[in-house]
Amino acid sequence: MKKITIAIDGHSSCGKSTMAKDLAREVGYVYVDTGAMYRSVTLYALRNGLFTDKGIDEEALREHIDRGDVNISFRFNAETGRPDTYLNGELVEHDIRTMEVSSRVSPIAALPFVRTAMVAQQQQMGKDKGVVMDGRDIGTVVFPDAELKIFVTASAEVRARRRYDELKGKGMEADYADILRNVEERDYIDSHREVSPLRQASDAILLDNSQMTIAEQKEWLMNQFRQAL
Ligand code: C5P
Repeated sequence: MKKITIAIDGHSSCGKSTMAKDLAREVGYVYVDTGAMYRSVTLYALRNGLFTDKGIDEEALREHIDRGDVNISFRFNAETGRPDTYLNGELVEHDIRTMEVSSRVSPIAALPFVRTAMVAQQQQMGKDKGVVMDGRDIGTVVFPDAELKIFVTASAEVRARRRYDELKGKGMEADYADILRNVEERDYIDSHREVSPLRQASDAILLDNSQMTIAEQKEWLMNQFRQAL
């Protein structure tokens, strides 16, 4: 059967990854969470003291990346039916989702050399099609020729509430006001950065899921998938 490339972009915490993972599982495609890659670089920078009083030590981070010291990979987890993120061979799925990483990831993702390295890896992962990739620039930069492009959004309050429930559900620390501030800050930085800012590709289909259940979103996406084949 014909395989296509599916790009799912949109704002922070709008349920993109849940939609993308469910679709990938349903249709037997590979799922790539590109946000997890930027989060992993951020975790690496934190662990290696590359956030200084003066900001990010960009030169050092660039050297680490150029030397090949920041290796990000995904391995399928049969228990959850989803891929887990590994940083230099260590499972970091939990550590990359903390508020500390969330609050530092957008400036890291705005660095051109970080984006160049991640985009090259993402294009490699999706070169054979049959992939669902979620992020901010998949339909605009990584796979501008993707056959199906979705741009997802929801109100900041709805997104913050969902993220709060998700973190609490995992037994992690969560404060609603902090999360809302973080969601709004990331939207701002992601949309205003110079390189690959978050924007809807002209040929992407817009989905505002503020009022939709997960089941409704799933059905909507499956319909889009069938039409794109
Ligand atoms: O998708 P998630 O919220 O986990 O992404 C974390 C951060 O990584 C985003 O806020 C954004 O700054 C960055 N990102 C990006 N480009 C992507 C995916 C994520 O800049 N393709």
